[in-house]
Amino acid sequence: MSTSKTRVGIIGAGPSGLMLSHLLHLSGVDNVVIEARSREYCENRIRAGILEYEVAELMRATGLGERMDSVGSRHDGTNFLVNGELHHINFQNLVGKHVMLYSQHEVVRDLIAARLKAGGELIFEASDAAVHDYETGDPYITYTQNGINHRLDCDIIAGCDGFHGICRPAFPAGMIVEYDRLYPFGWLGILAEAPPSLDELIYANHPNGFALLSMRSPTISRLYLQCAPDEPLENWPDDRIWEELALRLGHDGFNLNTGKIFQKSVTAMRSYVAEPMQTGRLFLAGDAAHIVPPTGAKGLNSAIADVAILHRALEAHFKHNDHEALASYTPICLKRIWQIERFSWWMTSMMHKFDNHGPFDARMQTAELNYILTSSAGQMTLAENYVGLPLH
Ligand code: FAD
Ligand code: PHB
Repeated sequence: MSTSKTRVGIIGAGPSGLMLSHLLHLSGVDNVVIEARSREYCENRIRAGILEYEVAELMRATGLGERMDSVGSRHDGTNFLVNGELHHINFQNLVGKHVMLYSQHEVVRDLIAARLKAGGELIFEASDAAVHDYETGDPYITYTQNGINHRLDCDIIAGCDGFHGICRPAFPAGMIVEYDRLYPFGWLGILAEAPPSLDELIYANHPNGFALLSMRSPTISRLYLQCAPDEPLENWPDDRIWEELALRLGHDGFNLNTGKIFQKSVTAMRSYVAEPMQTGRLFLAGDAAHIVPPTGAKGLNSAIADVAILHRALEAHFKHNDHEALASYTPICLKRIWQIERFSWWMTSMMHKFDNHGPFDARMQTAELNYILTSSAGQMTLAENYVGLPLH
């Protein structure tokens, strides 16, 4: 067994683990990231696309803004399509902020490059990671790499290992209370070699179900269709996907650009929160602690918000001997997280077709959409939440 030592042992090289590592490095706090997958896998995993205003600002403030500002694009607003009518919500006019369209895998690439350039220790393809003695002052992580067993002693362990990771299940039995909601639908997502049909997103509420038009670059479109949570992909040959997208996104003057579909997948929808987010010296961040349905574009953003809060607390702990902030990590995060959960649940409820809705529920959904999209107070509520609440 080889043994080494660091201050913060981070499990997971997703956006939360990598950003925490980057922020800690900038504060001079030694850390190591342990990741089960290969670097190539992490850098090519297709997920979210929208960065909140303050998350983009954090990227810039910490030296990660260059590619985001050249490859990504600034979106001052977004579109809602309801009853065939397009409503533009202008975030910039309403709340003076915008969002950035920049893929999650690009954020991951930037973070990995920055960490490696700074001599950071990222351990990829580490199997059998396990956390030990985190209720005492001397926690450690064990893992195997290339057939060799390793032990990493640390002061703090950060569980940034996603929803299916090992850190949340390591909490003492019965300690975590779970708040969970499964939605009766999923999203069929595609990537296609097609120029985006509009310069900003379209969130569509259609009698056949929700659809979303998004993009990744001037030549690549990202599109989604509401489907069953366990929808077999065989049900959706390419022609059917384009037909349904054209129907659900169709409105006056709109032409859907089509092209070769090179990625297709189904994601189930879930809201989930685990409380508390810490035990002893083990702290959860991002998807390890909470999940949102993607309708509000909040998953990646809330993962970054958690580690911004955790970083501040760790900086106070290590640099100023102030342990208060670490003790209040859970309540500080949860206050923000529940706001994000509410917004994501609300957007999901407002935009999807629910098979169990009777005529009254359907009218309520339409009335709510009409209010939100036509009242300036309603638009403001949407804009304020979409561009993102303050990181702290
Ligand atoms: P993750 O990105 O999940 O990273 C966790 C990391 O930990 C992974 O690299 C994983 O390999 C590693 N890991 C796990 N177990 C171990 C272990 N035992 N040992 C070592 N390493 C381990 N959000 C949106 O806002 N919009 C979207 O369109 C969207 N689409 C999504 C599509 C899919 C299929 C999924 C799964 C999520 C999507 N999300 C989306 C959510 C968003 O991508 C996540 O919220 C975000 O990735 C959370 O970041 P994270 O760092 O907390 O977790
Ligand atoms: C995406 O581009 O993948 C995307 C954008 C907005 C969302 C969800 C996903 O709400």
